[in-house]
Amino acid sequence: MIKDSKLLVGLEKPADAGIYQLTKDLAIIQTVDYFTPIVDDPYTFGQIAVANALSDIYAMGGKPITAMNIVCFPKKELKISILKEIIRGGMDKMHEAGVLLIGGHTVDDLELKYGLAATGIVHPKKIVTNANAQPGDKLILTKPLGTGIIATAIKAGVAKKETVKKIVHSMTMLNESAARIMLERGNHLIGVNACTDITGFGLIGHTYQLAVNSNVGIKIYLENVPMFPEVKKFLKEGFVPGGLYANRDFYLPHIETNPALARKGGTSLPRENLDILFDPQTSGGLLISVPENKSGKLLKKLFEQGIKSASLIGEVVAKPARKIVII
Ligand code: CO
Ligand code: CO
Repeated sequence: MIKDSKLLVGLEKPADAGIYQLTKDLAIIQTVDYFTPIVDDPYTFGQIAVANALSDIYAMGGKPITAMNIVCFPKKELKISILKEIIRGGMDKMHEAGVLLIGGHTVDDLELKYGLAATGIVHPKKIVTNANAQPGDKLILTKPLGTGIIATAIKAGVAKKETVKKIVHSMTMLNESAARIMLERGNHLIGVNACTDITGFGLIGHTYQLAVNSNVGIKIYLENVPMFPEVKKFLKEGFVPGGLYANRDFYLPHIETNPALARKGGTSLPRENLDILFDPQTSGGLLISVPENKSGKLLKKLFEQGIKSASLIGEVVAKPARKIVII
């Protein structure tokens, strides 16, 4: 692999986006994300795909500036008007974010997919990564979990309209305001130590990456983890996305649970509670690692800005390093 000192975030400590320094005070953040529809309405899907794709840039403290559409479209099976609606939804969301669409690429494919390759800018000294969480930090999550499970229920036709509305509201919400608040430096809030956004690997997967890259341990307060109220019911009824099992298989060895919470006869926490932590999220919230003395202020500001689901869900510990302990 070619080494380059201007590569500030690359594959050595993997994140979902890369950062390359151009000048003393300018670096670019590049990211790409696209996926198959998770809601029926094409316009809404376009909005979600864009909010999701820009999320990595916000998580890293950057400002998205340009984007290119990535489209896979089965043109024989679907009407072109569907694609137009998806793009319109995407464009509206880009407009809201102040992002310019500068190009794109469409291929004929069996399965519809949409997303962006997006570029953002950041001052090299103001980058927030997932590699600097410090023991003693508190962890704040800004959106509820459960979009993967609920999307599975939507596909099966069993989710109520209000439920769909709730997750759509959450998934179309840009992480821009949460990121802006996290970056504020005045008012005694002088920065956060680390951040990541929660997407396909679920809360546990992205938290684990934060623990590994920062060489710390993480305690999660299960009771405090925000989730959509319908999620537990859907889980019990078996609406489990395939990605949840994959995440669970992969990350379970890195988790310790508090035996005091174990179910009688079992070895771990009630399964449905743990499973939610593995649910792959689309356009999930930011997970922010902030010094304890600033965590209350950060939470208060998030509430004031309408990010009502924000919750203090855990803390960073020195040991056991690279482990997640659920209490
Ligand atoms: Co990305
Ligand atoms: Co990400």
